[in-house]
Amino acid sequence: MVRFKNNIGPFIKWVGGKQSIADQLLPCFPQDFKCLYEPFVGGGSIFMASKWENAVISDMNSWLIDTYKAIRDDGEQVADLLDNMPNEKNFFLERRSKHPDDYPTHFERAATFIYLNKTCFRGLFRVNKKGFFNVPYGEYNRRYYDPGNLKRVGDTLSKVEIIQGDFELCLAGVSQDDFVYFDPPYYKLGGHSDFNRYTPDQFKEAEHLRLAALCHELDQRNIRWAVSNSDTPFTRELFKNYYATSIRGRREINLNSKSRNVRELLFTNYEVLTETDNSLEQQELLLAR
Ligand SMILES: C[S@@+](CC[C@H](N)C(=O)[O-])C[C@H]1O[C@@H](n2cnc3c(N)ncnc32)[C@H](O)[C@@H]1O
Repeated sequence: MVRFKNNIGPFIKWVGGKQSIADQLLPCFPQDFKCLYEPFVGGGSIFMASKWENAVISDMNSWLIDTYKAIRDDGEQVADLLDNMPNEKNFFLERRSKHPDDYPTHFERAATFIYLNKTCFRGLFRVNKKGFFNVPYGEYNRRYYDPGNLKRVGDTLSKVEIIQGDFELCLAGVSQDDFVYFDPPYYKLGGHSDFNRYTPDQFKEAEHLRLAALCHELDQRNIRWAVSNSDTPFTRELFKNYYATSIRGRREINLNSKSRNVRELLFTNYEVLTETDNSLEQQELLLAR
């Protein structure tokens, strides 16, 4: 596992988080760009593992993005609020029954987000159509945050741009000197419907098509990008004009199964040159360009 720069790591558990494969992904990124754009930042494992301080991070999940902003603005206030939240089922249910927009400050919203993440079943984030959190209580005895890590995350966030919104809207400032890493909710694999409930709207085929079209447009503008996704005929078809590198992934397939090892793909519009064992597979997977 990659050692985070300045010992920084994600402050939440996030389904689809790339923490365990960051050491495979980072060598596949270009080393010479100005700004890292991460439009599906989620738990932020790639952004935190990378050495780029110049970054624009964004996500559609407004509760998550408010949490990033609150930690940037005053992580200590978030920590103080967390210190007063008991890990008890009744308190959990009371917090869960409140709509995330009903908290008076983004600090309280953020503390509740982290609290629910650390006390709910398997750290899942799932909301219903109305935006209410609906994961059951997990009965875990884990601490809510690491004070040193929270402080370092806050310091790092003070240097980056944080945006809430759809992936298409967050790339307004991107230029040829920059690099974009896309890590969308994965396309369903092997008949299982992948976990896809990070936001009230799901990420379906139409969104994958929209993402592929955006990648094509960026390619026309000579902007480099990489896209993580599952290895399926559909995803291969979407990116058939680009390069693909096979990555050893560890995926949680659905709520009832344990995680398992699967291969996933990293599509890129540049050739990946690494010393890792991925390079052989990359040649096999080199799609017609
Ligand atoms: C696979 S996760 C990203 C995981 C992240 N790379 C990490 O290491 O934690 C996908 C993310 O896409 C976000 N998302 C879903 N639909 C989106 C959209 N239309 N635009 C931007 N972000 C979206 C979800 O909220 C989720 O955080």
